[in-house]
Amino acid sequence: MKYKTLKGLQDILPPDIAVWHHIEATARTIFRSYGYQEIRLPIMESTDIFIRSIGETSDIVEKEMYTFEDRGGRSVTLRPEGTASFVRAYVEHHLHNNPAPQKYYYMGPMFRYERPQAFRYRQFYQIGVEAMGIDDPKLDAEIISMLSRILSGIGLEGLSFEVTSIGCAECRPGYKEALKQFLSDKLNNFCSDCQRRYELNPLRILDCKVPGCIESRNGSPPVIDHLCKECDVHFESLQKNLSVLHVPHTINPNLVRGLDYYTKTAFEVSSENLGSQSAVAAGGRYDSMVDEFGGPPTPGIGFAMGMERIIPLIKESVPLPSGPDLFLCPLGNKATEKALVLAEGLREKGLWAEVNYDGTSLRSQMRKANRIAAQHVIVLGDEELETDRASIKDMTGGQESKTELNPSSLFNLIRNNK
Ligand code: HAM
Repeated sequence: MKYKTLKGLQDILPPDIAVWHHIEATARTIFRSYGYQEIRLPIMESTDIFIRSIGETSDIVEKEMYTFEDRGGRSVTLRPEGTASFVRAYVEHHLHNNPAPQKYYYMGPMFRYERPQAFRYRQFYQIGVEAMGIDDPKLDAEIISMLSRILSGIGLEGLSFEVTSIGCAECRPGYKEALKQFLSDKLNNFCSDCQRRYELNPLRILDCKVPGCIESRNGSPPVIDHLCKECDVHFESLQKNLSVLHVPHTINPNLVRGLDYYTKTAFEVSSENLGSQSAVAAGGRYDSMVDEFGGPPTPGIGFAMGMERIIPLIKESVPLPSGPDLFLCPLGNKATEKALVLAEGLREKGLWAEVNYDGTSLRSQMRKANRIAAQHVIVLGDEELETDRASIKDMTGGQESKTELNPSSLFNLIRNNK
């Protein structure tokens, strides 16, 4: 093969598209019921937007961004995630002037130069949401409840919801100190990246995937033991409201997010059926990002689901799309003309009609009808043209009915069979 997709990228072909549509349609319906509106953002941004928000010492910024100079000499980056772009747009368009909460969702591709493996791609699709302007933990609980309803609406089962709090600017310095103290006499056991992070941003050491580092940080103090009063109250209230909304969850004090912008609530949903890449969705609160991007202090919270992680889990249970509503098998030139006109009339009424063009034998036309899973078949020969009537065969039930040869009669018959 001369040309192939790049490593870590994939084509999405029908019939998989039916599964994508199922997920997107379910999510859109649920978003509407919670008042989320769609926003479409560019897939490229100025590089500093991501460095600033995701964090200079994060794996994404250090190792995974698709960054290049455009022809004007500007450094641009293919978005590795949606939140930073969203906040840029939120501030740029003064969306904070609208009444809170402001609720948005987006769907689209993200790019991370990660080592490709099962369920991990370099271009992957997220459905994400962001809710702005409210710092009440009831909103945190509601957004997690919405995520749970979307995932179960899609047909996902056996998921675990883990929540934690990662504190705020107030409690973080104290926690960093406690963590550094714990790590100080083990530093030689850590990789060179972690040794560098120790001074720059020790929290990132908790996110390192190197096996030796994972082992050496065992027993490190959890953030939730170092929360300030405000974060503690917020976290307590989140748990209470999750219970009120009947969202089963566990507290995972060791949950770490790979992005630096989070404050207070952080959460992750995972499936035991995905091996090491188990997170199907994740998110959290980011109360200082709008401020850092030059907007007025505005709290925010959101999450993103990974399409490529969800699809393999539900693929088998989403029904395959059916074939044409009607396959017209004409025998001869005159019949083909009639079939073409009838098909146009049916399409005008919203049905999927296909005409067999190639004038082959009835047998081979019927074989084709089966192959494309046609729901109904009609054969047009001399007799049918003369009487202006024909039998239409319901391929799902096998029965035949007589009908007049005009779009309305055909349409009514097909609709009644559905
Ligand atoms: P994230 O945890 O980096 O968060 O990504 C969210 C989800 O995207 C993951 O749970 C996973 O399902 C999927 N994902 C991430 N990387 C890959 C990959 N290489 N291949 C396939 N799927 C992947 C965010 O992106 C945040 N922006 C979420 C958020 C929104 N937080 C607040 N608002």
